[in-house]
Amino acid sequence: MSEQKTYTMIKPDGVRNGHVGEIVNRFERAGLTIERMELGMVTLAQAQANYAEHEGKPFYDGLIAYITSGPVVKMVVSGEGAVAKVRTLMGATNPADAAPGTIRGDFGLIMDENVIHGSDSPASAEREIGIFFN
Ligand code: PPS
Repeated sequence: MSEQKTYTMIKPDGVRNGHVGEIVNRFERAGLTIERMELGMVTLAQAQANYAEHEGKPFYDGLIAYITSGPVVKMVVSGEGAVAKVRTLMGATNPADAAPGTIRGDFGLIMDENVIHGSDSPASAEREIGIFFN
């Protein structure tokens, strides 16, 4: 497994519900390195660029409204196989399906507010780091 960078973002519900410290702690305990980290809002343009592939789907408008609704924590995380490692720590997209011990399994409440985003491939990671940390 090679050294990788990935983009991950604690979503508005994760920040609002006070899970930032625990999530960062889980990344570090898993041997990942926090390369960049910033608390701030997602602009409409960033949200539309990040979720462009979902435009037209029934959940798209709600997703854009939600991700721009409050502060998020944007991060670049690195390490051996960082893309898959972060996705494993996150758990399944729907918190109802996410295993206990994963971030979404422990802190997620509903599909529309699922605590955290993580890039799904090295190519997505590069694109998303460009969107959020140009
Ligand atoms: S899909 O079903 O293949 O289009 O889903 P996926 O590629 O996993 O990513 C969908 C992103 O939209 C967020 N989201 C939802 N997905 C499906 N259904 C509903 N109702 C929904 N609401 C929000 C989901 O969390 C994914 O966002 P990220 O930020 O990548 O986790």
